[in-house]
Amino acid sequence: MTIKEIFDAMSYGPAPESNGEARAWLTKHNHAFGHFIDGAFRTPARGFSTANPATGETLATVTQGTADDVAAAVAAARRAQPKWAALSGHERAKYLYALARLTQKHARLLAVLETMDNGKPIRESRDIDLPLVARHFYYHAGLAQLAPAELPDHAPLGVVGAVIPWNFPLLMLAWKVAPALAAGNTIVLKPAEYTPLTALLFAEISREAGLPKGVLNIVTGDGETGAALVAAPVDKIAFTGSTPVGKAIRRATAGTGKALTLELGGKSPYIVFDDADIDSAIEGLVDAIWFNQGQVCCAGSRLLVQEGIAPRFHEKLKRRMDGLRIGDPLDKCIDIGAVVDPVQLATITEMVNASEGEIYRAATPLPAQGCFYPPTLITGLGSASRLMQEEIFGPVLVSMTFRTPTEAVDLANNTRFGLAATVWTENVNLALDIAPKLKAGVVWVNATNLFDAAAGFGGVRESGFGREGGWEGLMAYLRPKAKTKPLKPVVPVAEPANPEAPALDRTAKLFIGGKQARPDGGYSRPVWSAKGKLLGHAGLGNRKDIRNAVEAAHAAKGWAKASAHMRAQILFYLAENLSARAEEFARRLKDLTGASGDAEVAAAIDTLFTYAAWADKYDGAVKSVPIRGIAVAMHEPCGVIAALCPDDAPLLGLVSLMAPAIAMGNTCVLAPSDPFPLAATDLYQVFETSDLPAGVVNIVTGSHVELAKPLAGHMDVDALWSFSSSPVSKLVEEESATNLKRTWVNHGQTTAFPIKAQTILAQATEVKTIWIPYGE
Ligand code: NAI
Repeated sequence: MTIKEIFDAMSYGPAPESNGEARAWLTKHNHAFGHFIDGAFRTPARGFSTANPATGETLATVTQGTADDVAAAVAAARRAQPKWAALSGHERAKYLYALARLTQKHARLLAVLETMDNGKPIRESRDIDLPLVARHFYYHAGLAQLAPAELPDHAPLGVVGAVIPWNFPLLMLAWKVAPALAAGNTIVLKPAEYTPLTALLFAEISREAGLPKGVLNIVTGDGETGAALVAAPVDKIAFTGSTPVGKAIRRATAGTGKALTLELGGKSPYIVFDDADIDSAIEGLVDAIWFNQGQVCCAGSRLLVQEGIAPRFHEKLKRRMDGLRIGDPLDKCIDIGAVVDPVQLATITEMVNASEGEIYRAATPLPAQGCFYPPTLITGLGSASRLMQEEIFGPVLVSMTFRTPTEAVDLANNTRFGLAATVWTENVNLALDIAPKLKAGVVWVNATNLFDAAAGFGGVRESGFGREGGWEGLMAYLRPKAKTKPLKPVVPVAEPANPEAPALDRTAKLFIGGKQARPDGGYSRPVWSAKGKLLGHAGLGNRKDIRNAVEAAHAAKGWAKASAHMRAQILFYLAENLSARAEEFARRLKDLTGASGDAEVAAAIDTLFTYAAWADKYDGAVKSVPIRGIAVAMHEPCGVIAALCPDDAPLLGLVSLMAPAIAMGNTCVLAPSDPFPLAATDLYQVFETSDLPAGVVNIVTGSHVELAKPLAGHMDVDALWSFSSSPVSKLVEEESATNLKRTWVNHGQTTAFPIKAQTILAQATEVKTIWIPYGE
């Protein structure tokens, strides 16, 4: 090539990164690895190979973890945990700091090895993944230092089992290991089968950091090993991966008492309004969908572009796509590397080939061999088509147009997922109007795919639950210190041998959509006083009543938009009206349970005041993230919260769950105390005189065992709590897998009432992290 030709073409020459160090490390281990358990590598055993997807070259063989291997790792973690938890926060912080320093020191080696094992461009592993890994350990060194003083009522969970995917192997490891260790847990981690190598190198680095043996254990293997870890006696499962496996894990851990966080898939919208800075939005799109070959759970994979600019936008986008360079991931000039594995490449190919849309593949040349797929744009699809709804997990963007902001929001939310969303507009009013309307755990305004250890990351709906990063992420590795004991079943008073003839029939109805409603089945049951007097009848609600109640709760969702001040006022008013009838309620409680009701009524009024107070004080946070901008953590309502209320303390139990739920803007469906329902049905009149909008609180009396299943399986219930003394926790968790609603159950253990406000308010809200440009 002449110099003139070079100047004319202005194309990049190759700038390959050396892989000598990484090869030397593999050779040092004879290209064969055993598990890392109790501070040492085990002898390699039967397993499988891991290959470089860009070349097909086998890099090493790793061991397929058996149930026995998992048991050994969990036992080592269990042995190490008490000592690790007993260290001061400062001591743990020093270890995390050492891990941060050492990942920085070995950053080049880790980045090269990651690129070889995964196929991602070295530019990304070196400049994005590794800095974020180090940042995560630094940040959590800080949390370890502060947590004992800031969260004195919390204790570590114990042993954490972590199962991670292959798209960000080391970063996902950091997202699990750093908070688990900072909180005082020990961990057994299973990396993905395609990409186990950096986890093993990290294990070696943990030894260099002097991490006590057993605190970190790595067991390699496939989904079977993952399932064995899920089944092992650990205290929490932290999972990132596909939604089907997330659902399987939800079912597998149901009723075991294991804590669970799930970071699952997405089909995140990328919304471009007609006043957006188009060139910036196109550059953003390159990061949204061609970062890591589109193998990103929060990839902006669904472009929604306003109709007026769509032709020009698509035109410019295609030109940009043609300029993306695909090739050897170790070449620093490469934009797009290899897809992780031939299996993933085949999945992408099959999905795109089956599409009925108009397919544009970038004109950029592909390497002759290796797992490469060109940047692809698909237009002309209907909003219900498979590629609009399903995660492709490859460099494939689907695009639709919209006319109005309202239509943009409707299309954006037309998905079962809810992980992330991006909004591009130069109009700050529009951006900040749209952000709260998007069903997503993370929203980026005029930017995309920004991450930081200080900012919570995670989804809603079928994108899972739980947040990673920030204080909220740490909380997912802690439990309240309060001691519990097995909860004895509370049974209704039995019918006396010679019941008095009732004076007048009094059958309490259900309360649905602000109206009293007869139970659909037409059945009720007598409620006897502690002294054997017939107090009345309570309706036995069924599946249909639950459906009606959920529908009413949905219809009342305007409650979320009511100002916090207004919600506070209504809670105060409920307290005032309950107070006016305190004697009557106390008498009812005494009749029902035989114990004096005065203190319970007083506590219920106090609780209503407490959550009236919190309604406008449970503030979000502004996170200090290292970009030109801020991440605002908003506390949003979950939506419809259903609750099986405590059986004892029939008034206070219900009020303790209802008040925080509605204070935060949720609407609810409550199944009151199963044996003592009449304290709840008396509340209808209090509701009716307190300006509580219809449908905000719906009450369905009946058997908790009967009501648990339709509530847990309902697709439009967003969260389900159970404090029932009936054994329903397992069923609730199992059935909740249908839409992956958040659950909070007592596992048959007592609960100390009042529940701490911070605990219940966190359950009543979702953290939405909104990244906005701010400052210089
Ligand atoms: P996957 O969900 O099967 O794998 C993720 C991890 O879970 C791996 O470590 C795997 O070994 C483990 N695993 C698999 N089955 C398990 C089980 N029954 N119990 C416990 N652990 C289990 O994801 P896969 O098959 O690698 O990718 C399939 C699709 O999932 C991708 O095409 C993509 O759409 C999606 N995916 C989404 C990710 C995300 O971050 N949201 C990450 C990886 C995949």
